[in-house]
Amino acid sequence: MFRSNKSALANGVPGSEHSSDFAYVEPFSCYLDSACQTLRPQCVIDAEIEYYCEYNACGGRVKYKWGTMVDGKVQEARRLLLQLSGKREKEYCVAFTLNTTYGINLVLHQIKAGAFSRIVTSDIEHNSVMLPSMTWAKRQHAERLVLQRGDDGSVYYKPSELERSIVLINSMSNIDGRVPQNVKQLAEKTHAQGGILLLDAAQGFAHDAERLRDVDFDAAFGSGHKMYGPSIGFIVIKRSLLDRLDPFFIGGGTVTDVEQENYSLLRSGEEAHAVLEAGLQNWGGILGLGEAVRWLGTQQAAKEREHSLAEMLFAGLKKHSRVHLFNRAPAPIVSFHVDGIDAHRLALYLSEQNIMCRSGYFCCHSYLQHQLQLPPLLRVSLGLYNTQAHIEKFLDALKKILSAF
Ligand SMILES: Cc1ncc(COP(=O)(O)O)c(C=O)c1O
Repeated sequence: MFRSNKSALANGVPGSEHSSDFAYVEPFSCYLDSACQTLRPQCVIDAEIEYYCEYNACGGRVKYKWGTMVDGKVQEARRLLLQLSGKREKEYCVAFTLNTTYGINLVLHQIKAGAFSRIVTSDIEHNSVMLPSMTWAKRQHAERLVLQRGDDGSVYYKPSELERSIVLINSMSNIDGRVPQNVKQLAEKTHAQGGILLLDAAQGFAHDAERLRDVDFDAAFGSGHKMYGPSIGFIVIKRSLLDRLDPFFIGGGTVTDVEQENYSLLRSGEEAHAVLEAGLQNWGGILGLGEAVRWLGTQQAAKEREHSLAEMLFAGLKKHSRVHLFNRAPAPIVSFHVDGIDAHRLALYLSEQNIMCRSGYFCCHSYLQHQLQLPPLLRVSLGLYNTQAHIEKFLDALKKILSAF
């Protein structure tokens, strides 16, 4: 019988309000890089280990007991992800992938040729949107339009620009946590013009899943590793969009029948997601992700704390005249640069004090480096495990560095 090693763990990170879910983290570590990947609560780690130790079987194929246990839990993970997105099984299904980047490529490049005449994206996108939108336009000999986003995240568009378009944007920026305030209206206008809306929700699922519930998106892409789960991706996709795919990335699991020269793909019903899941899946990862989504649903108090920590961080950074904040408003993701100290050097100084932040352009080179011509930035991104003590430690360390250089 597998047993969690919870009891053997250390006392937890600084700050008395810290939950025991992250008690394994060394007390002096200050992890501020959730936008890359979050820490995992103990229950997620336990769920994965439990799978490997207790019922390590393949899902979707076998009749023996371990396999049926896997099938039940995989089904539950799909249900929890639909629930998190506020979508109904009748209209949407959930497919598992490697990560957000893989999911975007998988769907975009399998859309039937000629179905859309343009791809529309925005300036503040991660490379995982920027690059597939470029390759799609190139391969389809179609137009690619890059729209501007306002300081409040709103997408500036003319309805005619949405005509027969694939609109592919993030639902939260990984630079400054900006969210597209007008995304609900954008979905309506896009559909009215015969287009579809694809959302890169890699950050949105972790920090702002509530917003997605009201949005009539055609597909939303997420990464488990950014929302307290294992390294795995998923797609919440409309069944009607599955019908508009011309799948060529196929193999075991995606078919109902195969003859010498022909095959029939799984396209509808309970197993419709399978057309996006070629080959054996990361079963342990899927079960861990299901546990992460369940855990997220119990974290209302931590979500409120994350909100107040974001305000505390923003206010603390604003006090320094040498700090140039990229954010216009507090958010769980904050970026800035400092007069006289290169961001990479700053990240190294912080690291010496066990403070872990990202430095650079965060895969948004097109916008930050080339369009705005900014120097590399330092990014602080919060998670539900962060405490007031972490923010105080970070602000205190920054103050000392600023006074020394
Ligand atoms: C907004 C956004 N989109 C996409 C990605 C890519 O995610 P992944 O590397 O999990 O595919 C990231 C990763 O940082 C991101 O922040």
